[in-house]
Amino acid sequence: MNITTEVFKVDSSNFDETIKRAALILKKGGLVAFPTETVYGLGADALNPEAVRKIFEAKGRPADNPLIVHIAAKEHLHDLAMDVPAHAAGLVDAFWPGPLTLVLKRKNIVPDITTGGLDTVAVRMPDNQIALELIRQAGTPIAAPSANVSGRPSPTDAGHVIADLAGRIDAVIDGGSVRIGVESTVVDVTGDIPVILRPGGIGIEDIRKCAGDAIIGYTDRAVGEEEAVRSPGMKYTHYSPQTEVVLVEGSGAEVSDRISELVAAAHEKGTRVGLLVTDETASHVSTDEMYSLGERDRPEQAARSLFTGLRWLDGRGVDVIIVDGSVNHEGVGAAVLNRLRKAAGRIIEISPK
Ligand code: TXA
Ligand code: MG
Repeated sequence: MNITTEVFKVDSSNFDETIKRAALILKKGGLVAFPTETVYGLGADALNPEAVRKIFEAKGRPADNPLIVHIAAKEHLHDLAMDVPAHAAGLVDAFWPGPLTLVLKRKNIVPDITTGGLDTVAVRMPDNQIALELIRQAGTPIAAPSANVSGRPSPTDAGHVIADLAGRIDAVIDGGSVRIGVESTVVDVTGDIPVILRPGGIGIEDIRKCAGDAIIGYTDRAVGEEEAVRSPGMKYTHYSPQTEVVLVEGSGAEVSDRISELVAAAHEKGTRVGLLVTDETASHVSTDEMYSLGERDRPEQAARSLFTGLRWLDGRGVDVIIVDGSVNHEGVGAAVLNRLRKAAGRIIEISPK
């Protein structure tokens, strides 16, 4: 695979014309990466099996890991899903457009390849003008996984997409950095009780305010093939840079102390350390390379920094990346912790004294 990847830079002066060009590529069965409010997605016509096949090939994604289908208007959900139960409609009203993906029984119009052979389909309406206009102009629902090589951290700007996928996709629309930084919350609404399959941009507390009985159906640990998982994507390693990642979890001060000790021990051995840490920890350690997760109690800052930071540190030639897991777990913090745990080769848990 070595095709020329066009980079479309959008601004207010060329918006309409640029989106039209990109939409034409999608209509013809090509691949276009585009920004959403969560992360960049790698789009193809969701109803064209040959186009969708190219997504799996470009990403090196296992064929049984289904894609999210993106729509530009709520009513299009009914084109793809067999029926939309009341609790699902309530979630749509509360959170669309936005970082919420719903899993529903699919209609036959959705090809097998898009759903990884499942009888369900994942649908979301993104909250980003470029994404919405692109889907509208393409005139078809757009299948889009995160626009990274399978297993790598998700892309939060066009440079990340180019680093992973240049030569493998037709185009990327550069719309700057994303707003949220972690992917959508995935909720299975096929049963009587909604099941949260992946934590994401919408906090679990907020899902429960709307669908009070929602239960958690994901694990933060890397899970083995043999375990029955309802969201096929959960069984694969994820979000990992090339460098080894060590995550330190526990309450604030203890995590900061332990990270200082780890850094001192590493420097003693001549190991180069990269740190992805909260501002509180940063204020009492120093090391070769450091990227900020923001304030401990502001998980939305950590969400925006996490994939960017992992990619940046990966490019700094460090031997190990030590990550601060003391970020507040509320709201988008659950997604931050989930991604960090999946990226980590090793987790150090400091139990309270
Ligand atoms: O924010 C997002 O969701 C981004 C942007 C681009 O919209 N997309 C994204 O897609 O994160 P991806 O492919 O990286 O993750 C989709 C997740 C996977 O874990 C997949 O297994 C799950 O959604 N999924 C998709 N269809 C499903 C289905 N029918 N049943 C259960 N899980 C499904
Ligand atoms: Mg992904």
